Amino acid sequence: MNKKDFPIFNEKIYGNPLIFLDSAASAQKPDVVLNAMEKMARTYYANVHRGAYYLSEMSTIAYEDARKTVAHFIGAREKDIIFVRGATEGLNLIAQTYGRTLKEGDEVLLTEAEHHSNLVPWQLLASEKGIIVKFAEVTEEGTLNIDDFKSKLSDKTKLVGITHMSNVLGTLFPIKEVTRLAHEAGALVLIDGCQGIVHEKVDVSEIGCDFYAASGHKLYGPTGIGFLYAKAELMNTLQPWQGGGDMVKTVTFEKSTFAETPARFEAGTPAIIEAIGFAEALRYLEKADIEEIEKHEEKIMNALKDGLWSIKGVKPLGDMSLKKSLVSFNIEGLHPQDVAMLLDKQGVAVRVGHHCAEPVTEKYGVSSSIRASIGLYNDLEDITAFIKALEKSKAILL
Ligand code: ALA
Repeated sequence: MNKKDFPIFNEKIYGNPLIFLDSAASAQKPDVVLNAMEKMARTYYANVHRGAYYLSEMSTIAYEDARKTVAHFIGAREKDIIFVRGATEGLNLIAQTYGRTLKEGDEVLLTEAEHHSNLVPWQLLASEKGIIVKFAEVTEEGTLNIDDFKSKLSDKTKLVGITHMSNVLGTLFPIKEVTRLAHEAGALVLIDGCQGIVHEKVDVSEIGCDFYAASGHKLYGPTGIGFLYAKAELMNTLQPWQGGGDMVKTVTFEKSTFAETPARFEAGTPAIIEAIGFAEALRYLEKADIEEIEKHEEKIMNALKDGLWSIKGVKPLGDMSLKKSLVSFNIEGLHPQDVAMLLDKQGVAVRVGHHCAEPVTEKYGVSSSIRASIGLYNDLEDITAFIKALEKSKAILL
């Protein structure tokens, strides 16, 4: 758990050291991940589940081992792990499989904090099937209004979709309590784990949820790979989403029969090299110890919050004290885009905009904000440099 593990920090940005504060969008990759991917491509790469030869066997073993690593990381069974392109694909997969069993008038209850990827798929389905999409309120502080959630949950609710951690507010959502309440009402629970799993230990059997999706690239792995946790017993009753190689049992001109999950939902050649890189990233995190990472990140976040409070005119979205891994904010009188541009020139990378969660951003009365998000490689020097760069940008603009 060290900057030295990540080669990108050898780079200079406009002659400055890189201060990377955009890990919530995508995290940097350690050498071990890059090396594992290169080693596979160079020495034992072939397609999986298909070839009757040495390299294909090696590749298949490594790919299925990667599934085991993901399963172990979240306390699941291997057969409950479907490899997907990323969390977005995992969430869409549920909308397009379980979602298709819903009938007109059935309700899907989301929260106002959902990223577009756990909101738009349900709107698309609603326009086609006549289901009703409802939203549980987010409080001024940036957490779930549990009373509002309870008041909107009923026997019409067939699915509850909730973010583990808001990518705009940086707050944790009460996924265990929501899962319990949803199950009591007879609804299934889909969790968007994209941000949450990066910053705290996840055990899906302890949470009790039905579905949990996350992306490899936010977990220090490569892009193009992620997982959907979904119980095999349910998934085997659902129609596949995409048709193609590897997801069938038999095919005739008249009809096809389908493989059991996870193959059932992994049509076509999967992201093999990326799965190997993803597993290596998870091993790296396990070695670093998620609890140790949490402690380290808490220290960095406290420094970030103190630094931001010291700057006059900083207005965070929601309650700053509740934020776990990121802060979205504006500075009075300044356009966030201008600030981000000046930060960039000083080597500081932040995200600016509505962060692909437009409704919740607008709920706080703004259309855009600056977001600083941390990863395990950030240190106190990064925060000092960021606050200094922010002060300088403010002085230039005001
Ligand atoms: N969902 C990613 C973010 O919040 C891309 O930045």
